[in-house]
Amino acid sequence: MLIEFLRTHGYRSYVIGRDGIDPKIKVVILLFCGLLVFLTSFFIMIGDLLQYVKEISNSIQEIAEGNLGILIDVKDDDEFSQLADNINKMTEEVLVIMDRERETERSKNELITSVAHDLRTPLTSITGYLELIRSNRTLNDETRDKYLEIVYNKSKRLEHLIYDLFDFTKLNHGRINLKPGTINIVKLLEQLLDEFYPSFQSNHLEYEYQTSKKDICIEADGDLIARLFDNLINNAIKYGADGKLIKVCISEVPGMVKIDVINYGKVIPNQELNNIFKKFYRVEQSRSENTGGTGLGLAIAKNVVDMHNGTIEVTSSLKGTSFTVCLPYSLSECKDKFMIDNKGETVGNNK
Ligand SMILES: Nc1ncnc2c1ncn2[C@@H]1O[C@H](COP(=O)(O)OP(=O)(O)O)[C@@H](O)[C@H]1O
Ligand SMILES: [Mg+2]
Repeated sequence: MLIEFLRTHGYRSYVIGRDGIDPKIKVVILLFCGLLVFLTSFFIMIGDLLQYVKEISNSIQEIAEGNLGILIDVKDDDEFSQLADNINKMTEEVLVIMDRERETERSKNELITSVAHDLRTPLTSITGYLELIRSNRTLNDETRDKYLEIVYNKSKRLEHLIYDLFDFTKLNHGRINLKPGTINIVKLLEQLLDEFYPSFQSNHLEYEYQTSKKDICIEADGDLIARLFDNLINNAIKYGADGKLIKVCISEVPGMVKIDVINYGKVIPNQELNNIFKKFYRVEQSRSENTGGTGLGLAIAKNVVDMHNGTIEVTSSLKGTSFTVCLPYSLSECKDKFMIDNKGETVGNNK
């Protein structure tokens, strides 16, 4: 009816009058079309973005549930892609930390197992022999003395192991504060060799001490350096007794002081050279001969050298076994005095 009425009055429809479309309505239509175009493209765009955010959120959910192996697609270089990239980097970092933790845990367990084993072996002998002495009142003096000697030696071994272990864990876990001072290494080694004199004699060993200068100084912790060379000289005596001679040579190389501790007894097989600095590692032959070591001496030595930014290397052949330590030279004035008191503590020119 209305359409009929409008048509008879010259209108083609509600909106298109005799003079065409009403301008106001034109504006409304244009606005409406614009809004439609805007909304359509907005939803297409936002749809992609929402999908991406959903993807990121799902991945975070998976990561939270422990699946750290997933990687989120980094699609563009907008803020969301940046977020995805950062999450990827974070999970990678967490994986590295977890690996490190696992490795620490593994080596801690390994250490506990080895220590338990090394403590148990002498302890079993000690209790075994003490039980024999206790339950056997008729033992003659000679046998009782023999058993007591074994108990004494095994107890010494336990004491040695506990000391080594204590040093090793302290050094290895950075729980030691370096007390650096200017150390006259020539004097330190001279004094150390003097202290070893009775051991050299009882093992029928000669020793030679060579140095390129009367005084050579390094910036170091005297106690630790004494511990390092104590281990090397002890090893030279223990494993080089057949060789009859031990040499300690000090020389200077650019920026460093080089100290060689050389013995001529047993040769360390080539394939073992890389392993002897590992904790508890003992060359098969030494294990079977039961020379009574803990396998920690060289691990301690390596730790001390590392703490002083030095190096330690070994070569072994029929021409001799040589442990070469290089330590950074001191630029400070080299003083003469150096002493180790009978508790093994350095006194003198340590600052
Ligand atoms: N001077 C040396 N000559 C020959 N072999 C050595 C020498 N020093 C170390 N070794 C070998 O390296 C191993 C590890 O030495 P170390 O860590 O001091 O442990 P330990 O002396 O307690 O066995 C020893 O068991 C021995 O087999
Ligand atoms: Mg040793």
